[in-house]
Amino acid sequence: MSEEAMIKCEDLVFEYRSEQGAVRALDGVSLTVGKGEFVAIVGRNGSGKTTLAKCLNALYIPDSGKVLIDGMDTKDDSHLWDIRQTCGMVFQNPDNQLVSSIVEDDVAFGPENLGLPPALIETRVRDALDAVGMSEYAKRAPHMLSGGQKQRIAIAGVLAMKPRCIILDEPTAMLDPKGRKEVMGIIDMLMKEDISIVLITHFMDEAVKADKIYVMDLGRVIREGTPEQIFNDHEIAEAFGTDLPCSVVIAKKLREGGMEVPRDIVTEEALVDFLADREADR
Ligand SMILES: Nc1ncnc2c1ncn2[C@@H]1O[C@H](COP(=O)(O)OP(=O)(O)OP(=O)(O)O)[C@@H](O)[C@H]1O
Ligand SMILES: [Mg+2]
Repeated sequence: MSEEAMIKCEDLVFEYRSEQGAVRALDGVSLTVGKGEFVAIVGRNGSGKTTLAKCLNALYIPDSGKVLIDGMDTKDDSHLWDIRQTCGMVFQNPDNQLVSSIVEDDVAFGPENLGLPPALIETRVRDALDAVGMSEYAKRAPHMLSGGQKQRIAIAGVLAMKPRCIILDEPTAMLDPKGRKEVMGIIDMLMKEDISIVLITHFMDEAVKADKIYVMDLGRVIREGTPEQIFNDHEIAEAFGTDLPCSVVIAKKLREGGMEVPRDIVTEEALVDFLADREADR
C-alpha cells in the first residue's frame, strides 16, 4: 500500500456559474484524511460541505487547487473509475439512491457495474447486507422500508463495492431518531474496520466520535482539530451553542457545579468512564 493520504485537498477552489454570476462555494480548502481515519466535517448551511463531498468523488472538478484520492488527481479523467471505486458516496436522501425494486438487486448494482463475476457479486451482496443487518430484507421492495432501513441499503450498496473510503453527506438528516441510531451503529462498526470515513453532519453527537473535525464556513475551513480541541475552543463552542454534543454540555454543567471534569473528556463513553471510575473510588 502506498504512503499517500487517502484524501488530500490542496487550496481547493470551486465556483458555481450561472447567468446571474458565479458563487464561490469553496474558497481555498485544504484538508487531509489519512488511511483508516474518521474525519467529520461540520459547518453552517451553505458553508460548502456538499460541494466539497462532490469534489472528493470527482463529481465536480476544482477550478483551481487539487484533490488527490490515494494520490490520484481528480482532474485526470483516466482515474475516474478508480476514484469512484476507492471512495463510495452516501447522500442525505436514501430515496434518490435506490435504483431497483428489490433490495438485493439494488446492492448488486455497484458490483455489477464493476463487471465482477456473478458468484463474487452474490457473495459481496450477502456480506454487505449482513454488515448493515439487513439480510432478512434481501428480497423485499426498498420503497416499503423505513428511512433508516433504506439508508442502510444505500450504505450496503457502497460497501458491496469494497471502497477504501466512504463519504457520507448528512446520512441521518432525514431520519427519525431510530433511523439515526441504526445508521450511526453502522458507522461505529465501520470505525473498527480499516476504512477511511468522511462524515458530513449537523449533529455534533456524531462529529464528536471522529478522530478529527474540520469546521467550515463560507467555503473555507475555519478550524481543524481533534474533538477535544474543537469543543474546547470557546469561539466554536459559542457558535455551536445548544448544538454541542450532549456529553460536552453535561461535562460543562458538572464543572459549573464544582466537579473537576478534565477538558479532554468530550465523548459520551469517556464521560461515563470518568464518572464510573470516580464512583468506584469513593
Ligand atoms: N447547484 C448550485 N448552483 C449554484 N449555487 C449553488 C449550487 N449548489 C450550492 N450552491 C451554493 O454554494 C454554496 C455551498 O453550498 P453547499 O450545498 O455545498 O453547502 P452545504 O454546506 O452542503 O449546505 P447544507 O448544510 O445546507 O447542506 C452555497 O452558497 C449554495 O447556495
Ligand atoms: Mg449539504
